[in-house]
Parts: sequence; structure tokens; C-alpha cells
Amino acid sequence: MSRKKSSASKPAPKKFGPAKPKPTPKKPLADKTKGISALRGMKDVLPPGSADFLELRRLAEAIATAYGFGYIETPALEQASLFIRSLGKTTDVVDKEMYIFEDKDGTRIGLRPENTAAIARAFVSHGMHNWPQPVKVWYWGSMFRHDRPQAGRYREFHQFGAETLGERGPVVDAELIALAYHFLKDCGIESTVEVNSIGTLEDRQQYCVELVGYLRSKRSYLSEESKKRMVRNPLRVLDSKEEQDRAVIDEAPQIVDWLSDESKKFFMQVLEYLDELEIPYVLKPTLVRGLDYYTDTVFELYEEGVEEAAQNALGGGGRYDKLIEYLGGPATGAAGFSIGIERVLGGLQARARDAGVHEKKKGGFFLAQLGEQAKKQALVLMEGLRKGGITVSHNFAKSSLKAQLESANKLGVSHTLILGQKEVQDGTILIRNMDSGIQEVVDQKKLKVAIQKLMD
Ligand code: HAM
Repeated sequence: MSRKKSSASKPAPKKFGPAKPKPTPKKPLADKTKGISALRGMKDVLPPGSADFLELRRLAEAIATAYGFGYIETPALEQASLFIRSLGKTTDVVDKEMYIFEDKDGTRIGLRPENTAAIARAFVSHGMHNWPQPVKVWYWGSMFRHDRPQAGRYREFHQFGAETLGERGPVVDAELIALAYHFLKDCGIESTVEVNSIGTLEDRQQYCVELVGYLRSKRSYLSEESKKRMVRNPLRVLDSKEEQDRAVIDEAPQIVDWLSDESKKFFMQVLEYLDELEIPYVLKPTLVRGLDYYTDTVFELYEEGVEEAAQNALGGGGRYDKLIEYLGGPATGAAGFSIGIERVLGGLQARARDAGVHEKKKGGFFLAQLGEQAKKQALVLMEGLRKGGITVSHNFAKSSLKAQLESANKLGVSHTLILGQKEVQDGTILIRNMDSGIQEVVDQKKLKVAIQKLMD
């Protein structure tokens, strides 16, 4: 992962003498685009930071594949009604945050705010209940929520997620939690899993009667938002982040006491599997999640030590045994999770800053060329290396060695390959260690082997 340099490490030395003229600040590009900038809450992913983004995607693919999940991609646009029906009309995501518009045919379109509903739709559309069960899929892609932009909250963000469809078993839930937990661990993040069970729809209906009775008795202590939620979707009061609501929520009746025997047993088994897998978890009786499709197990993952900042869940998920049936498919047990990639990246960068890790690890190769002949030969050599799976950076726009070595330094490569007139003629190339400055001459035919040795 790239680490940012801390500016706080050394105090700037005091300067004496006449003040130097301040450099003229470069005009931001937005000026040149006549006021057209990226939309609020949406951002460009640019190098060099984009390397971290790609690295997370690579880690996601590696771990999901190792757990036996196949890649799925569904469209970013769906019929708006898919999300409205699946997530629930009164949820914040549908009620406040969905991008909905009519296309030229008058179809009501929704930009996907999450991917589980779309995957359940795909399961039904493709008759996946006829495939060998369970169907295990993973995904990576942009999601869209018209939320108020703030740290860790964007209007376009990326999720890595996995869903297991076609099996109702506690081991499935435990496997998904383990996958999410180990993905974060692979990214260098120690996390804690918060778990709860919200039972079946029937369990929940009975519990809600009790909950509403309790909330009514405490109405005057509740925030305005929770008063509204109490009427529209009482479970969501438990999710409130308002300080004012905390005491009321802490004393509220707990849903686990309303679980049917079957749901209770299922939940206990999930916890036993988690113990077996040595996944650290905490029971969170007020965890209900913000989407209506969940049944039984629900969970969220937090970076260890920052559980209290509830808005910063790195990921979450749960079981949704009724969703596929609700969308017109056969009764199908299913569960899944999604992890917010921007939050993972944010956590990693904050930690790198806190730890004062200044030095980016050096790695990679740069090819510098001197003269027209060398440039041509450099292209041939790079093509050969690329075919052998070795990527080499270059800067053909610069002709002096000094300028090219500067580019190599900026990229933080460990070695620069130098090709001048002499080397072109005698079929050799120099390999320069960027730390020590030591150079060795290598036969161009043996370049690949020499690079591989250095990489090892
Ligand atoms: P979710 O909790 O709505 O669940 O989102 C999962 C993760 O996406 C969050 O924990 C967070 O990291 C990230 N996220 C959500 N909203 C934003 C935002 N505005 N900006 C940045 N990151 C955000 C779901 O989406 C479910 N589909 C999870 C699931 C899968 N349940 C079953 N299967």
C-alpha cells in the first residue's frame, strides 16, 4: 500500500535573508473546464493512489476465488422497483438516497445503491435454482447513494461483496463472515465482527409490537428523527446515531428474546462456527441493519478499536431467506456481505499517517534510453519483457539521463535499466541500483533472467 509522507515530522528550518517570491500557483484544471467539475460526492481514482485500489481488487479476487466464489457482474442500472421492493420503501437508502430517473422510454430506472437485490434478480432471471446449489458469487463495482457527502461517505463508492444463494445453513453465514474478516486482514486491517439475529418476519412482527409500546412510553426523550421512525419503521430507531436516543435504545427490549426456537438454534450454531474459526465477534443486540430484506443473522465489521464510530462500518451483511421468493423465484435460503472499498482505503491511509510511516517501499524497474537508436531498441526490449510478464516504466518524452533518472526516482523504482549508444552497439544494458548507485553490465539476451533474479 502506498503511504503518505507526514509533513509534521521535522519543523521547517527558519529562513533568513530577503523573502523569495512565492511561486505562482498552478491553475486548477476545473477553471479550464469552464466550471465543469466532478459531481459532489463522486471522485476520480488517480495514480499513484489507484495502485492501492487495484491491489485491494486483486486481494478480493484472490480470496473470493480461494473460498470458491465465481465472479458476477450485473448492470449498474435496474428497474427502480427492484430496489424499492427489495430494500423497503421506508429505509433511508430508498427513501432518501436512491438515484431514480425516467429514461427516454419512460421506464423508471434506479442506479444501484447496493448489489444484493440485483444478484437476487439475476438468480431468478437465469433460473439459477436449477444450477448446482449453492450458487456462490462475488462482485466488485460502483454503487450510488445520494447521501450527504462526508468522510467515508460518497455518492459513488465501490463495494466488494459475496453472496451464497441456495443454502440455508449456519455454516454459510460463518463462511461469509470469515471471508469478509480475512479479506480485511489481508488488507492489513484487524477487525471486529458485530453480530445479531433479527429472526423471521413473524418473530420481528411480534417484537415490533413490544418495541413500539416501549418507544411510545419514552417518546418525549427521543430525537425528532426517531419519533418519525417509530411510526414508519420502528426497528430503525435501534440504528439511531443520535446521542439523545442512546439511553432509550440501551434499555429497549431485545429482539433475541423474541426469536423462535429455530432462529435461536440457528444463531447459536453460527456463533459456534465463528468460535471454531477463531473469528473475534461481539454480540450486538441492537444491530438490525438498514435494509428490510434481512432475516436471522445480521453482522457488521468495524476496524478494531473504532467500533463506536458507528457510521464507519467497513462492511456488513446478513441472511435474506425471503428475498428470492419475494422477487418471484422459489423459496431459497441466501446470505452475503459487502465491504466499502473507500472506507478500507481511508482506514489504511489514516493508519499509515498515524504510524508515521514515511517511506514508500521501493520496487519495479525503469528503462532509460539515450538517443534515437536506443529508444527503438528500448521498445523492442520492453515488448520482450512484457511478454515475459515483466512491466517496465519509462519516460520517452525526456531525453537526458538526468531527467529520466529523476522520473525513475519519483516512481520509486528499485532499479533503472540504462541503454545508450554504446550498449545498443555491443548488445548490453546497464542495471543501476537506485539506492546504492552501483551499476552492472548485462547482456541484453540475459536481461529477463537478471531482472527475475533481482525480483526474487
Ligand atoms: P450496506 O451496509 O448498506 O450493505 O453497505 C455495505 C458497506 O458499503 C458499508 O459498510 C460501507 O462500508 C459501504 N458504504 C455504504 N454506503 C456508503 C457510502 N455512501 N459511501 C461509502 N461507502 C459506503 C449493503 O450494501 C448490503 N448489500 C450488504 C449485503 C450483501 N447484505 C447481504 N449481502
